[in-house]
Amino acid sequence: MSHHTSPSSPAPPSAASAPRWAVVGYVEDVGPGRGCLPPRTWYAASDAASLCLNGRWRFRLSPTADARDDSFAEPGYDAGDWDEIAVPGHWVLQGHGAPIYTNQRYPFPVDPPRVPTENPTGDHLRLFDLPQGWPRDGGAVLCFDGVESCARVWLNGTELGDFKGSRLPHEFAVGQLLRPGGNVLAVRVHQWSAGSYLEDQDQWWLPGIFRDVTLLHRPAGAVRDHFVHASYDHRSGEGTLRVDSDVDGRVTVPALGIDIATGEPVSVPVEPWSAEIPRLYDGVLATEGERVPLRIGFRTVAVTDGLIEVNGRPVLFKGVNRHEWHPGTGRALDPETMREDVLLMKRHNINAVRTSHYPPHPAFLDLCDAYGLWVIDECDLETHGFTEQSWRGNPVDDDRWTPALLDRAARMVERDKNHPSVVVWSLGNEAGTGRGLTAMAEWIRGRDGSRLLHYEGDRSCRDTDLYSRMYADHEEVERIGRRLDGGGHKRRELPFLLCEYGHAMGNGPGGLADYQRLFTAYERLQGGFVWEWIDHGITDDRHGFAYGGDFGEELHDGNFVCDGLLFPDREPSPGLIEYKKVIEPVRIEGGGRGGTVRIHNAHDVADLSALAFEWSFQADGATVARGALPVPQLAPGESADVKLPEPPGVQGAETHWTVRAVLASDTPWARRGHEVAWGQFPVAQRPRLGFAGDRVPRVGHGRITLGPASFDARTGEPRSIGPVDLTGLRLDVWRAPTDNDEGASWQGGPRHGLLWRALGLHRMRHRLDAVEAGGDALTVRTRVAPAAREVGLATVYRWTSDGERLKLTVTVTPEGEWTVPLPRLGVRFGLPGSADRVRWYGGGPGEAYPDTKSASRIGRWESTVDALHTPYVRPQENGARADVRWAEIGGLRIEGEPEFWFTARRWTSEELDAADHRTDLTPGDRVWVNLDHGQHGIGSQSCGPGPLPRYFLRAEPTEFAFVFTVTGAR
Ligand code: GAL
Repeated sequence: MSHHTSPSSPAPPSAASAPRWAVVGYVEDVGPGRGCLPPRTWYAASDAASLCLNGRWRFRLSPTADARDDSFAEPGYDAGDWDEIAVPGHWVLQGHGAPIYTNQRYPFPVDPPRVPTENPTGDHLRLFDLPQGWPRDGGAVLCFDGVESCARVWLNGTELGDFKGSRLPHEFAVGQLLRPGGNVLAVRVHQWSAGSYLEDQDQWWLPGIFRDVTLLHRPAGAVRDHFVHASYDHRSGEGTLRVDSDVDGRVTVPALGIDIATGEPVSVPVEPWSAEIPRLYDGVLATEGERVPLRIGFRTVAVTDGLIEVNGRPVLFKGVNRHEWHPGTGRALDPETMREDVLLMKRHNINAVRTSHYPPHPAFLDLCDAYGLWVIDECDLETHGFTEQSWRGNPVDDDRWTPALLDRAARMVERDKNHPSVVVWSLGNEAGTGRGLTAMAEWIRGRDGSRLLHYEGDRSCRDTDLYSRMYADHEEVERIGRRLDGGGHKRRELPFLLCEYGHAMGNGPGGLADYQRLFTAYERLQGGFVWEWIDHGITDDRHGFAYGGDFGEELHDGNFVCDGLLFPDREPSPGLIEYKKVIEPVRIEGGGRGGTVRIHNAHDVADLSALAFEWSFQADGATVARGALPVPQLAPGESADVKLPEPPGVQGAETHWTVRAVLASDTPWARRGHEVAWGQFPVAQRPRLGFAGDRVPRVGHGRITLGPASFDARTGEPRSIGPVDLTGLRLDVWRAPTDNDEGASWQGGPRHGLLWRALGLHRMRHRLDAVEAGGDALTVRTRVAPAAREVGLATVYRWTSDGERLKLTVTVTPEGEWTVPLPRLGVRFGLPGSADRVRWYGGGPGEAYPDTKSASRIGRWESTVDALHTPYVRPQENGARADVRWAEIGGLRIEGEPEFWFTARRWTSEELDAADHRTDLTPGDRVWVNLDHGQHGIGSQSCGPGPLPRYFLRAEPTEFAFVFTVTGAR
């Protein structure tokens, strides 16, 4: 890359008297850098020698970029008193300085391309010997896979150059500099540079050499770069292969009998590559100097009649946005972690990844090729912070920056062009609009016409092949699906993607199933990518997982960095379980013709041969019969009504069919028996709870007794049921607002979390109006309302008993004008802290809320109180189990009429609300149980639409009941 000098950037260093900033001119130069080799393809290993330079490096940090000499780069420099640091790594995660989290705001004054004087700068030093037998012929390149944000490099005292473009590879030719004895590699890394203006992604700012450093031998006659063109013609079933290389050679693919010269095309019958059936063919590109392994996947991507098609079939993206993240090492990812991401995705039915918002470690794409994931490879470009000034000065619309943008585009495309998994190039994220983007798009199209182009930030779709949006609500998505959304001529012809939706921050996202119904209904809607894969929490003892603000940042965006489907330690959150169910590739539905189940193959490519189906039959949640279910080999898109066996004769119980699709044999990503899809549908309804409350309450000694229960005669509050003590039973409407309840300031629509608090729902007062012990009931009349407001809930608790059992019927009548929905509506009470085991019949095994309960399966479940809690990084409402018929806890069995939401935790909702981190929650001496008649929906308003109105919990006259029985068990 040539050195590009912008009119506004400082002159190169010259005299000693130059102003100090001139010494670091390259840091603020808008150009990509000097001295690097042109970009080329990345591959794991050829037969050429290589030396991994990862490991312990000497390290020293200084607070500014200037003010120091370069003598550390000279051979013989004594760095004995420097610290040591792990490379790959970020120094701010290794005890030097601290990370900073901002979403869109730049954490420095916006004055491009200038950066602050306070510019943490890390000098890295590594001495190495060439291994025995390192070839003397040919050359060598030194390869940096990723350095944030700007590096200057010396080998054996000779300066090689400098570069920017943090998540992109940079290589230097070093053959002539290598010494048979010891070599000294010196790298100076600046946290801030002109490049930082192009890297304003919503994530931690983490300087350092965070990807591999490798020395590669380049034998004489070795390949510099090669481009595998492998297309598939779905009409003829033939693949066409041509491998272009700058050095002549031969290409062999033994399994296909291919042996051709470079540059020569050949067509042969092949099995195509897809995310569902990722057929790869091993080959070799052999030149005079090198044998390069090829992993070839034949596939053709195109927009045909307004639809994205691969190999002639439309695809539905069931995707996630993946940032690279590890809670200990940040964006320095080891191979096992990358593999774990891919395995977790495959096991949760995910078929696509957008590499938000930069090209990932190159090895990740090898995994996507091998395991099968569609990839949108996104360039390392975001200038979101310019939105704070109405995009004034945006680098993507300023020609001085265009060489840097083109450099970034080229480094991504050249590095990743040989991956069949990459089907779409993305220009970047949230960079506004401008000529620079168009220049990137033109360059990419000229270099690789075989993939589609994506960029979300320009609604005109001027440079793209897809119409892409983020966080559009269901109504708008439906309009787009119906092609009623208007837009310019070009856009109207394009297929649609939600490149981000379902903001998985904290509890949620809600509404995924409703989106999926739209994606399935309208062909133009080709799916979406949930935001995002993993919470970027940083492990620390004090907080559990730290987030923005925990490092004393002057500007930060708090826990907005924890918005993933995985917790930082890769534990799946309920959002991932929900997503897996919503996107399952087989739909299993009841209500077909009598005695049948409808099976729909929702794969894009695969038939059902990889799956085995089984049915089971449940009576009151217990499986009473099961067996295999033969299902015809449906092609993708086909359905069949499959006959179920005669249902077992069960009387007086609620019954269900459950049908599951599991892997018929081991796959590279999961074992035989792994569940891929399931469906459940009711047969006989739950019988009503028979209950005749004929006991008469008895009053005496300050107590009222009724059946097994004893009440406070003054307040009418239950004190015990049999041997079980109860505390504070009363109506409860408060939940610790979720991130989605709180909403984001830029989202339209009411932010219910804020409105609830403003109304005072977190400090409801309970006025006692009457305690009436008479006839066959104890009736307690109350009014529940917040100070300063006229709204209230007239609440009547009516207790009856048949001697053994105790029934509570709650009647709630709203008073005044309720303009907001309720967070929850039910009763809560405390049990002694010894309560631990929980059993229930209802929805499980995991958490569910009205718009997140697709994965909640009716059955009998068991847990402990601790395990019921979902440990969101910022604590908030969690852990409800849906549709509970009965639950047992602390020696009580509680049956609901109707079904209820069950929650139990070792702290109150108020304590949960007050906590900022996991470590703020400490068990008290009670277990608090919530039995809710209703819960408000979750939605995804932390960065998207709130819950759909049908999931609102409106204040309206309501009655619900619970029957308590003493079980004796604890
Ligand atoms: C989008 C952005 C993402 C992330 C998300 C909110 O606007 O592209 O990077 O910030 O919102 O979490």
